[in-house]
Amino acid sequence: MMKATARAHTNIALVKYWGKKDPTLMLPQTDSLSLTLDRFYTTTSVEFDPTLAADQIQIDQAPAAPKLAQRVSQFLDLVRPQGCFARVASVNNVPMAAGLASSASAFAALAAAASWAQGLHPSHTELSRLARRGSGSATRSIFGGLVEWHAGHDDQSSFAEPIQEHVDFGLEMLAILLDTRQKKIGSRRGMQHVVATSPYYPTWREVVAHDMAAMKLAIAAQDIDQIGHLAQTNALRMHALNLAADPGFTYFNAATLKAMETIDHLRETGVSCYYTMDAGPNVKVIYDRRDRETILTALTPQFGADHLVVAKPGPGVEELTDERDSLI
Ligand code: PMV
Repeated sequence: MMKATARAHTNIALVKYWGKKDPTLMLPQTDSLSLTLDRFYTTTSVEFDPTLAADQIQIDQAPAAPKLAQRVSQFLDLVRPQGCFARVASVNNVPMAAGLASSASAFAALAAAASWAQGLHPSHTELSRLARRGSGSATRSIFGGLVEWHAGHDDQSSFAEPIQEHVDFGLEMLAILLDTRQKKIGSRRGMQHVVATSPYYPTWREVVAHDMAAMKLAIAAQDIDQIGHLAQTNALRMHALNLAADPGFTYFNAATLKAMETIDHLRETGVSCYYTMDAGPNVKVIYDRRDRETILTALTPQFGADHLVVAKPGPGVEELTDERDSLI
């Protein structure tokens, strides 16, 4: 049997990855650190079939758009048995391409399913290196909980590692879904433009080195207030790179700014909560689970209950062995 099904969860960076130093090997400019979330995930089945004349790729029950299909096929080229095409079916439990890192869970699940479908059982470290070739943030989605991606200097040395796989000290994230449509500037293009034109880029490298060390201390101390403060500061500095690029751009829209203001205001009234944003307009709130109800009560009138999604720390990539879970 040449078939396997994998499930991987998204992650949200607390110290962001924003820039590559090698676009082919997908080596990042800096280290980064994230939390894997239980609520958003991708399930992917891969079946290699020597009788196929081309890859057949289904995403969310429809044939993949040509650009996406090409990206998946190029990724499969890294692992496929010589000349053997695959059937791929993938379902996202993530609003696609809205800064909720669907590519992280997607390529982590694809890396695992494509390996397992061949009877290969690479270590999680090896899977992390492979997932990296599909999407940078996928490197971290192989692992659960709090995860660090070592930038490294070549294929071997660039992989993720868990800092704490089972996060049980109350850290939670709430996604405010403001806009789930496709983002205008993909992360690949956005970061490339920033590395090439943002005058703050050299300073960003120093910021990340500092933030990585400070974040690890805050995690060791289980200090959620400090984790949130560092994550918010780091996110704002990442987005400042975009504003300072030439031409400048932003992922924020009016609703994003309004949500940021709401969270800042809530914190000023004494509730410990912070925000982070990625390559899209949605806002993620970082807080201690004991404040969840207070925060939900404060945000519901403004955003509506169905736009607020509570996520807890989630697991690493897993194999689904029940035939009923197969998407092929
Ligand atoms: O690897 P990509 O293309 O998913 O880029 C991810 C970039 C950010 O989400 C903005 C930051 C991060 O570290 O996940």
